Parts: sequence; structure tokens; C-alpha cells
Amino acid sequence: MPYIKETSIRRTQDAADIVQIIESYGVKLRRVGGNYAGLCPFHREKTPSFNVNPQGQYFKCFGCGAAGGVIKFVELIERLDFVEALTNLAQRVGVELEYEKSDYGARSPRPASSGDHKKALYWANKTALNYFRRALAGSPADAYLRGRGFTTDTLKAWQLGWAPDDFHGLLDFIRDELTRQNAGAKFDQAVKFAVEAGVLRRHEEKQNYYDAFRGRVIFPILDARQQPVGFGGRVLEEKPEAGGKYLNTAETPLFKKGRLLFGLNFAAREIGERREAIIVEGYTDTIMCHQYGVRNVVATLGTALTPDHVRLLRRHVGQDGKVVALFDADAAGKKATARAREIFMQEDAPLWILPDLAVKDAAEFLPKFGAEKFREFLNSAQEAFACLLQENLGQNFGNDLSAKTAAVMNVMRVVNLCPNAIRRQMMRQQVALLAAVDENLLPQPEGKREEGRGKREKGRERSLFRNR
Ligand code: UTP
Ligand code: MN
Repeated sequence: MPYIKETSIRRTQDAADIVQIIESYGVKLRRVGGNYAGLCPFHREKTPSFNVNPQGQYFKCFGCGAAGGVIKFVELIERLDFVEALTNLAQRVGVELEYEKSDYGARSPRPASSGDHKKALYWANKTALNYFRRALAGSPADAYLRGRGFTTDTLKAWQLGWAPDDFHGLLDFIRDELTRQNAGAKFDQAVKFAVEAGVLRRHEEKQNYYDAFRGRVIFPILDARQQPVGFGGRVLEEKPEAGGKYLNTAETPLFKKGRLLFGLNFAAREIGERREAIIVEGYTDTIMCHQYGVRNVVATLGTALTPDHVRLLRRHVGQDGKVVALFDADAAGKKATARAREIFMQEDAPLWILPDLAVKDAAEFLPKFGAEKFREFLNSAQEAFACLLQENLGQNFGNDLSAKTAAVMNVMRVVNLCPNAIRRQMMRQQVALLAAVDENLLPQPEGKREEGRGKREKGRERSLFRNR
């Protein structure tokens, strides 16, 4: 826990205007006397019971009871803890946080990037997004997306775009934008930020710059404030000479794949209300689900699920909430499901798994079979451990002793990832029962045999405690 100085907290609160911060999350506020009122972002309502007091710099909802200052607001809307919310806010309002020296003289974590720097990266992304969006109408991407069943409303809401097949389209656009704003002198600096944001690239030999995304359908990745932090660009046709099917922004101070979920900016409220999140594989799956009214859907950004993702999802669904995995009906999807099961097990978080779709993925299913069939399908989710048992010790368990042993070991490898001793014990009992072997013979987690509780065990217990 970084010890942030009290004075830094106060300076951040002073620098942030609560009305402006709340409005930056798309909450529309109307002046009523000396206060502001609007529809509460924390629960669904038709008449405004959400009030903001600009003098006192606090908000209160008379409908759901949410209340607090500006940091509390960021905590609630972004589902962050206090330190995370404070750090986030300080960066936005340009306050450099100061840290107390921690007890052991270890350096406290500091924000990797200052507020101004991040603002410049946001600017680069926003400018690129403007360029991509303006290029969409009448482009090959427009035809392509409509051909796949995306509606005009969807293209607009998700701010989809087209990166023309041009090496300096964005470069020129940036120059024009700056000239228009009488800031032509800032061009060189702007280009450097655009490179860091991943929308331009530098050619080392030729010593010039060029567009990173060319000839691709653009899927912007937006944060909780609906600001672009990165892009996924899809080729129109999958052929070897076109390069990878998707080109994604590399890691930047704004874009941390292991912590971001595509679509969460649109799905957060619905996930909170339903206490359930559905996680799919692709950009197109996410968007199609939302288009068909299934709005608690998010996707990873072309990476495997990380522990950070699991914690983020848990924060959104709540302690007793549900996360459901719906991955593609192919080998890659199988692998992703197995990986998700392991990560959730490691994080001691429940996961539900859907069987294979009749077609490749949700993006293909919905236009073909409709929302009703899809919702029916969603009801067939099974708890991940039950699935694991069924896959390994179910009908295929068979009579071959080596195969049976392998199947038991397979299950136990996953069970032993669980840091929660009670849950692990209950799972062991089920395995023993199904496989008809003595529970004491089933392998224990590594370093956790009779020799006693080693360092590792203690480490695990601590991490369990921290996640609660
Ligand atoms: P898919 O190949 O299933 O793509 O990859 P998709 O999103 O379903 O796209 P369509 O519907 O075929 O057009 C799933 C996800 O994996 C990541 C992307 O995030 C993609 O959405 N991915 C895939 C990459 O990052 N790079 C790739 O080359 C391929
Ligand atoms: Mn897919």
C-alpha cells in the first residue's frame, strides 16, 4: 500500500471540480438553484434523484443512497479502490502525488506517467479516432461491417472506423488539425506522442513517420470515460500478404491489455445490475451481443485472461456475482476456456462455462438465430469445476487404467491451483468419490505435503486474504 501524503490528497480534491469530473463520465447535469441534478449513474431511473453540490464538492443520490466526494465518485464509477481512484484523479487534474517513505525504505509505487503526458497520449488517440471515423462513410469497412449485420446505430455507438490504405493519411490529418488550431509549431512533438500512443510509426532508416493502421477496420478501445486508449484493426480479407488478422495497439501508459476489457465502458452498468458478466473472445462478438440487447458482455483484447482481469470482473459482478465464459467453438476457444478455468481457480473465483455454439462464435450466431435463441443458449452455462469433472471423470472415464489415472491427475492439477484450502478440500472429496480412489492418495499442491507449511503456503494464504 503506497502511503500517499495527506497534502497530496487535499491538493487533488481541490484541483478537481466534481461537476466537471462527473460530467466527464457522460452524466448529464442540470443546474437546479445552487446545485446540479441528473440521472444517477449508479442505478437505473427515469427521474433525476442524483444531486451534486458544487460548493461542498459532494454528490448524493436520493434514489440509491450513493454519496461522497469526488474521489468516492471515481471509486464507484470506475470500481477502483481509494488509492487507485486517487491516483487516477490526480493524473487527470495534473497533481503529482507525493508519497511517505514506507517503513522499510522501499520505494512506493509511483504513477508511471504524469498527467500531462497522458493527456498528450489521449490527444493522439482522439485525433486518430477522428480520422478513422471520418473515413468510414462509403469505405470498404462500412460495406464490410454492414455485410456482417452491424447496424448504423452500432457503428456510431461503438465509434467504428476505417484506416485508409495510405502511409501518411493520419500524419497529414494531424498536421491539418494543428494548423487549424494555429498550433502548427507543435507538429514534431505531436508526432512523437502519436508514435508513443501507437498510431504512427517511425521508419528508422528513412527517418520518417508513417501510419500504423492501414487498410483496416478500426475497433476503438474506450476507457470508462469513453476515451480511446487503443485500437484493434482488422483486415478486410484474411490472406497471408495482409499480415495478422488483427493489429492491436501495443502496451502504452494508457493501454494495458492485461487490465482492460473491451466493451466494459458500455457493459459496466448492466453487469453491476445483473451481477453477471459474459466474457467472449472477440471485438465483433462483444459488439454483436450488445446490438442484440445482451449488454453485460465484454472481451479480452487478444490476450489470455489475467488475474487482473478476474479481479476487475469480480469487482463489477460483486462477491456473489457470476462470470460466464463464451469462447469460440474451435481449438483456440478450447484453449482459452481451459486457461480461464485455471486463472479463475488461482484467484479462487467462480467461473461458469458455456458449451460450444453451433456456429463459430457469437458474432455469427446472433444474426443467424436471433437474441431469443441466444438467451436460451446462455442458460446452459455450467459451473467450471463441474465441467472439468464431467470432461475428465464423466462418461469418457472408461476402463483403461492409465487413461483413468491421467484423467484424475489432470483434474487435480487444476484443483491444486486453488489457494483456498476449504474449497480445495471439497473439490478433492468430489474427485475421490467420482474416481473411486482414496482421497488421501490424491496429490496435494506442490510444497504442501506433510513436511508442513512452507514459505509458499504462507504466501498463498496471504494472497487469498488480499483478494477478499
Ligand atoms: P478471432 O479470430 O476469433 O476474431 O479472434 P473475431 O474477433 O471473432 O473477428 P471476426 O468475427 O472473425 O471478424 C478473437 C480476438 O482475438 C484477438 C482479437 O482481439 C480478436 O477480437 N486477435 C485475433 C488478435 O489480437 N490478433 C489476431 O491476429 C487475431
Ligand atoms: Mn471469433
